[in-house]
Amino acid sequence: MPVDLVLSNAKVYTRRGIVKAGLAIDNGRIFRIAKETNLPQASTKLDLQGCVVLPGLIDMHVHLRDQQLAYKEDFFTGTSAAAAGGVTLTVDMPNNKPVTMSSKSLRERMKLAEKRIIVDVAFYSAFPATLGEIPSIVEEGAVGFKLFLSQRIGGLDIQDNDVLLRAFNKAGEMNVPVAVHAEDKEILENLKNKMKQAGRNDMNAHLEVHPPNAEMKAIQRIIQLAKESKVRVHFCHISSAAGLNAFLAAKKMGLSVTCEVTPHHLFLSHEHLKRCRTIALIHPPLRTNRDVKALWNALTHGLIDTIASDHAPHTIEEKEDKSIWDVKPGIPGLETTLPLLLTQVNKGNLALSDLVKMTSEKPAEIFNLKYRGSLDEGYLADLVVVDVHRKHKIDSSRFLSKAKYSPFDGWKVKGKPIKTFVNGQLVMDEGEIVAKPGTGEIVLWKNRSH
Ligand code: DOR
Ligand code: ZN
Ligand code: ZN
Repeated sequence: MPVDLVLSNAKVYTRRGIVKAGLAIDNGRIFRIAKETNLPQASTKLDLQGCVVLPGLIDMHVHLRDQQLAYKEDFFTGTSAAAAGGVTLTVDMPNNKPVTMSSKSLRERMKLAEKRIIVDVAFYSAFPATLGEIPSIVEEGAVGFKLFLSQRIGGLDIQDNDVLLRAFNKAGEMNVPVAVHAEDKEILENLKNKMKQAGRNDMNAHLEVHPPNAEMKAIQRIIQLAKESKVRVHFCHISSAAGLNAFLAAKKMGLSVTCEVTPHHLFLSHEHLKRCRTIALIHPPLRTNRDVKALWNALTHGLIDTIASDHAPHTIEEKEDKSIWDVKPGIPGLETTLPLLLTQVNKGNLALSDLVKMTSEKPAEIFNLKYRGSLDEGYLADLVVVDVHRKHKIDSSRFLSKAKYSPFDGWKVKGKPIKTFVNGQLVMDEGEIVAKPGTGEIVLWKNRSH
């Protein structure tokens, strides 16, 4: 019997390095990686003309929106943007309308997603008010919980350490990670009130409301709680040297903590705000060059676990509000992450193996996804074909996301995702979506080792 598909003439990224080989794919999985003469017959054959094949990216920080926020992004446009960016699995954040915080709200979200997604999607939930509901939310499908410390989203009083500790223990019992947006609510609110009272409405005021200290304090507080429980904590978008040092100290002590950085905190700093203005307004905000250097230094020393986009789309009107306090924080990132990182690989600033580790292997490990994150026989055929030499300019008007703006607009990059396969199916070809809505699958907690 022939297999479904053979991708020939490729450079395949495996844990043993890059091998000149072909890939045989059958039933959505990688059947064999071998020299062409050793591959089985296939119903369909595709010549990749010497391009590099990487494991599809697992972006563990994506706001897909939809439901009452579909005017910003919906499951189809968000996962199309993912496919265009070489991302084969997105993990969706719970700050939706309605908030994902119960098995019922999760089920409703999954029901909508099922018919609309182009790539695979897994879901975070916010914590419910009743901690006894945590197991049923996980059994419904949530692969992790998201805790926002900058504002209350979900059922918990985020200022109450006892409550958080009990929530952490419950999540730990279910062996799911807790992802944390670490900025201290009280610090933020006090500063914001002061700025507003002083009549400030400028970008610096926004920066002053989100000092590195607020990030560091929140990280230290959560580490203290993580010490007392058996939960695995993942720190989202670490942005400052102070926050990073607090995290690294915990890691040194042997706590099971992981972290993520975003491309915008790696490539942009205060000076980019002059040109990008409120387009680049995000939480946590862009930092100084010194902070950026600290992130890169940790990254090149293997101390950063993951890179995630924090794709957070809003309408352009929401991004350009006259009052700085009403501008919605967040930028689309799904379509820029891989080209930006491949450019650094081309420049010799980032090893390809580190890119793959931080964007595929580690995220799979954090969620215990057994057959994802690497290219190997038996693994799901989730892959991205990249032309590492292709030069292009980032052009947000061509984004598949509804959010057609970017602080990276006009940046010259080298390296481009040209084909994306999800479960063995071609979903993106040269920037176009070639699969039907509903091609992607929902990754449920109970199916994570399938
Ligand atoms: O910049 C941000 N955007 N930070 C957040 O915490 C939320 C996110 C969003 O959902 O837009
Ligand atoms: Zn966040
Ligand atoms: Zn986010």
